[in-house]
Amino acid sequence: MATKIAIIYYSATGTTYQLAKSVEEGAKNAGAEVKLRKVKELAPQEAIDSNKDWAAHKIETQNIKEATLDDLEWADAVILGTPTRYGLPSAQLKQFLDSTGPLWGEGKLANKIGSAFTSAATKHGGQESTILAINNVFYHWGSIIVAPGYTEGSQFESGNPYGASFTSNNGELDPDDIAKTAARLQGKRVAKITAQFLVGKEQHQEA
Ligand SMILES: Cc1cc2nc3c(=O)[nH]c(=O)nc-3n(C[C@H](O)[C@H](O)[C@H](O)COP(=O)(O)O)c2cc1C
Repeated sequence: MATKIAIIYYSATGTTYQLAKSVEEGAKNAGAEVKLRKVKELAPQEAIDSNKDWAAHKIETQNIKEATLDDLEWADAVILGTPTRYGLPSAQLKQFLDSTGPLWGEGKLANKIGSAFTSAATKHGGQESTILAINNVFYHWGSIIVAPGYTEGSQFESGNPYGASFTSNNGELDPDDIAKTAARLQGKRVAKITAQFLVGKEQHQEA
């Protein structure tokens, strides 16, 4: 049976969305069943309209389904993506995470694989701190965090073992091949480790 991966992301101007698509590609190529879901937009329409890239991206992704708690419950692995906001995850993603209390209370978020990716305007603008902040949520859920590490040679080019990331110069640059390779690797690695984990889990339960 295919491993079930939920890729849940927020993106205002599309950079994180492009990374999410590459994560999806990597996971699917590794045999996973993937749900790619955006979180609900919280910003007022006037704020969105004040930035043409933001407004265009909202329309571009209008057919992508919004993440629900059912998606989380369904998933064997959850991969979260967000732009860096002052070194932290976006409020939109955080709001979704804050809605998971009931599921968490029922123990339904425990023992899932977790992984995170991000984009930021500048190289030292908080890509690692954003991923690490998301990982705090995974600890509370009782997740098994799977980071890309330096598990393939390409990771020495992307240079971020915490999770895929891209420096967008405030959305002026689209993710390049190096960043897309890192994002595909993250999706693939999560799919493979999740498959191994599920086999081990089944064998252990049978024993
Ligand atoms: C309110 C706000 C805060 C931001 N904070 C940071 C930051 O701390 N560091 C950084 O490098 N970029 C920061 N950025 C820039 C975005 O993280 C960056 O443009 C990102 O690539 C946007 O991703 P998106 O296209 O998926 O929305 C900020 C942007 C906004 C609007």
